Amino acid sequence: MKITFIGGGNMANALIGGLKKQGFSAAGMQVVEPVEELRARLTDDFGVRCAPAIDAAALACEVLVLAVKPQTMKTALAPLREEFAGRLKDQLVISIAAGLQMKDIGRWLGGYGNLVRSMPNTPALIGAGVTGLCAAPAVDREGRETAEKILRAVGRVLWVEDESLMDVVTAVSGSGPAYVFYFIEAIQKAGAELGLPADTARQLAVETFIGAARLAEASSEPVDELRMRVTSKGGTTAAAIEAFNTQGVDAGIAAGVAAAAARGRALCEILGQD
Ligand SMILES: NC(=O)c1ccc[n+]([C@@H]2O[C@H](COP(=O)([O-])OP(=O)(O)OC[C@H]3O[C@@H](n4cnc5c(N)ncnc54)[C@H](OP(=O)(O)O)[C@@H]3O)[C@@H](O)[C@H]2O)c1
Repeated sequence: MKITFIGGGNMANALIGGLKKQGFSAAGMQVVEPVEELRARLTDDFGVRCAPAIDAAALACEVLVLAVKPQTMKTALAPLREEFAGRLKDQLVISIAAGLQMKDIGRWLGGYGNLVRSMPNTPALIGAGVTGLCAAPAVDREGRETAEKILRAVGRVLWVEDESLMDVVTAVSGSGPAYVFYFIEAIQKAGAELGLPADTARQLAVETFIGAARLAEASSEPVDELRMRVTSKGGTTAAAIEAFNTQGVDAGIAAGVAAAAARGRALCEILGQD
């Protein structure tokens, strides 16, 4: 399988590194990237062919991964609807751009439907991401398997069937790492205010998140069950949970995720204009 990445920034680097770790050959990957330093780094780090702009060699592939910023996507795809119009035949096109709908990407490709939209998150940069995927109706089983294989190079993958749910995926896991940082920050700050050295508070907060997340991952029980098990009646955890509930922390989180989903929907409309 030959893969061409359009855009050679952070995410493309993470994916290429992950694919190489899985045994994918450098000869099977190429990158279209206008920035010379980034091309040099990609060649040095991974030995992949790089080109400054889309050319015939770049289109000699089975998969195109669109890894440019959403606001530059339309421009980046211009060669595929102009100079190279009609050159996409049955290649699978995978977009990792946040907030771009398949109907808009398909239009910017000159009317193309063999598309998968994906939403990775930043832990992908260390191979610990989770990616939501959604396929257009034209994508067959093999296409879905190919998309999974590529995104699995940077973490886990999950499918959603209804594209409108990609805004919710964005609100949960796309923006999610920032929520976790927000919590770590708040707990760390509270610990320091109660007298812990700042570095000790940071380590305790970070390790607690890692450990609790791993426990939740390893357990078949629902998360509320795990929470209740460490919350003895009249104990310290119960006092904390009661204070969280009184302060409306759960409602605040629900409102935050809903706000992210609403913003995602609005951005889809703005970014997909013209
Ligand atoms: N980073 C994340 O964790 C993350 C998570 C989820 C989704 N995403 C999505 O992944 C996509 C890529 O993100 P990123 O962090 O990898 O961005 P990035 O580091 O900015 O990489 C994008 C690269 O594409 C290049 N580019 C611009 N115009 C181009 C063109 N016409 N043809 C080819 N390449 C072009 C950019 O060059 P210039 O710098 O010159 O513009 C840049 O080097 C975004 O759409 C983002 O929404 C990222």
